[in-house]
Amino acid sequence: MEMEKKELPVRPADMAEIKTPELAKAFIDEQIAAIRERVGDKRVLLALSGGVDSSVVAALLIKAIGKNLLCVHVNHGLMRKNESEGVIDLFKNQLGAELIYRDETDRFLGLLEGVSDPEKKRKIIGEEFIKVFDEEAAKHGDIPYLAQGTIYPDITESKDGIKAHHNVGGLPDGEEMILELVEPLMFLYKDEVRVVGKALGLSDELVNRQPFPGPGLGVRCLGAITRDRLDALREADAILREEFDKCGLSKTVWQYFISVPDFTSVGSRNGKRYEGWPAIIRAVNTEKALTATIEEIPYEVLHRITDRITHEVDGINRVVYDLTPKPTGTIEWE
Ligand code: XMP
Repeated sequence: MEMEKKELPVRPADMAEIKTPELAKAFIDEQIAAIRERVGDKRVLLALSGGVDSSVVAALLIKAIGKNLLCVHVNHGLMRKNESEGVIDLFKNQLGAELIYRDETDRFLGLLEGVSDPEKKRKIIGEEFIKVFDEEAAKHGDIPYLAQGTIYPDITESKDGIKAHHNVGGLPDGEEMILELVEPLMFLYKDEVRVVGKALGLSDELVNRQPFPGPGLGVRCLGAITRDRLDALREADAILREEFDKCGLSKTVWQYFISVPDFTSVGSRNGKRYEGWPAIIRAVNTEKALTATIEEIPYEVLHRITDRITHEVDGINRVVYDLTPKPTGTIEWE
């Protein structure tokens, strides 16, 4: 499938880097005015994944348009362990947002069955997302706008043809789009989004969450996704995160996750031959995700994670650590 050739926006050359609460406040005021001016008293649907970017958009839109914001959380079946439950708890139960939950696991996994090309996978996930939102918008009457947490690297990397980030190159062509996009963070880098999130009053825990790609575990369950391998990936990833929390690395490492490729190797478990997939650990540090370096994880931590994953997760018999910086690797494997 070809990448789209549409013109993508460029960050204004004179835009100051948002490093301080004052600059964040000026950005917030400017965006609130622009959003109000653009959407008037119409309703806006927000794709709320629960990640930093969409959460910051949610906070900004609540300030700008209040009850005219309707959040939708779509579980595409590619979320991390307990992730959707956490989103519902925080936004619906704690922050009182109007939130609709759609569990579309079977729909997404069905469409992805047998699809191994990474760009096709991204495109399928991106297009189906928009369809779910179109359906939701139609159900709720006149909602002409769809807000998204697109940030600048999503645009630049799609423009350079490196990857079709799911909220940019993965969208359908203009004529198929029913909803108009509202993307207030489109010129910001991740570090700037965090400063804006803090200035909006979001918790440290939320604004410092590690990034999670729109296509979720779909780009970490490498090749054609199968439910058993996806489950193994989800469990292994939960162990990695738990161990990083325990030793404090989750506070310092920018992004860390597991990918599981679609091949097996020979091993043994309980004295018997055991063929399983390898779990690949990646832990990277970066400021703007354009380049990245590798975290030097202490060996004892690596050993503990390896021991737990290979004993606790069905289907995984090896753990390897990816030492590739960006470039030449990208952060995600797909
Ligand atoms: P790469 O793999 O391109 O990733 O080096 C750079 C950063 O972007 C995240 N990423 C995405 N974020 N939609 C997103 O919102 C996507 O489709 C997407 N793909 C990658 C990735 O996790 C890393 O933080």
